[in-house]
Amino acid sequence: CPFNLQTDETSILRRENCRTKGGSSGFKVAILGAAGGIGQPLAMLMKMNPLVSVLHLYDVVNSPGVTADISHMDTSAVVRGFLGQQQLGSALTGMDLVIIPAGVPRKPGMTRDDLFNINAGIVKTLCEGIAKCCPHAIVNLISNPVNSTVPIAAEVFKKAGTYDPKRLLGVTMLDVVRANTVVAEVLGIDPREVDVPVIGGHAGITILPLLSQVKPPSSFTPQEINYLTDRIQNGGTEVVEAKAGAGSATLSMAYSAAKFADACLRGLKGDAGIVECAFVASEVIELPFFASKVRLGRTGVEEIYPLGPLNEYERMGLEKAKKELAASIAKGISFIRK
Ligand code: NAD
Ligand code: LMR
Repeated sequence: CPFNLQTDETSILRRENCRTKGGSSGFKVAILGAAGGIGQPLAMLMKMNPLVSVLHLYDVVNSPGVTADISHMDTSAVVRGFLGQQQLGSALTGMDLVIIPAGVPRKPGMTRDDLFNINAGIVKTLCEGIAKCCPHAIVNLISNPVNSTVPIAAEVFKKAGTYDPKRLLGVTMLDVVRANTVVAEVLGIDPREVDVPVIGGHAGITILPLLSQVKPPSSFTPQEINYLTDRIQNGGTEVVEAKAGAGSATLSMAYSAAKFADACLRGLKGDAGIVECAFVASEVIELPFFASKVRLGRTGVEEIYPLGPLNEYERMGLEKAKKELAASIAKGISFIRK
């Protein structure tokens, strides 16, 4: 199957034919915001994923360069670039999974909610495109404030008549990745052996690590619990301050987004027992959206697990989180309904 530059349409088609003839199948994935701080390393990681057969890279700037660069990687996914709103439809048509890291990041002193005014409109436009061009795709929403952008996306899809709550997932994987890392540090073990459920949402006190449910079963002193909770809830701010105006977490986020997207693709493929935390439409508590452990399958979120027993510290944390979470959800919903 000879081909050189994958940006050349003939060679892309030849490449796709080769894959079909070879019997290899895979999923079609689009990244919206692919030229950004998260988008670029995420594009690289998705190009390395053997479950991806076609990778569409969309942005309003710089996507041709990123596409040319990524397309030289000798992995099997076919890469195509799309630039500007007039190419959004082509970027989305036929996609199985759409990952959205488009939008502005925080600077020191800002909250995630301070990004609402700009990112709400970006997410609205992109979700309108999804409703029109790939209404059955799984959507992984990364753009902040996730506690509001997921309700925005849900409202856009409802308005378009395409809403399937099982297919819309706010990405909170970075909270789990951070929690696994700092808990492993305290326990003195390999982070790959650790699993910390992180529930609630994705901003400050709405990020609720369930340290009483850590695997392997572990106990922590009150000082350790305070330290770990603070590191997990403020991990994003730690990075924003260290980057001193140059943005927020990009590399650890790309890693987390790629890990989460891989779980979604394995679910779509029919693998059993794929369980991750995500911010989804939920009935586990009284709020309409909530992050908790979900089982991923062929249709997206196939099961949402109950929270399990919480200790007094976690129950108090949940009560504090609910108020902020409810306000962020309501803000997202009214942005579309107003
Ligand atoms: P960035 O500024 O480096 O990149 C954002 C990209 O989005 C840019 O390339 C920009 O051109 C593009 N973009 C802007 N408007 C667009 C539009 N209408 N359509 C398509 N693309 C558009 O920012 P970043 O560091 O990659 O962060 C992106 C977002 O992800 C931010 O909102 C950030 O807060 C969020 N984030 C979320 C998590 C999480 O855990 N969910 C973690 C880190 C960052
Ligand atoms: C994070 O948790 O790193 C992201 O939500 C980015 C941010 O603004 O903190």
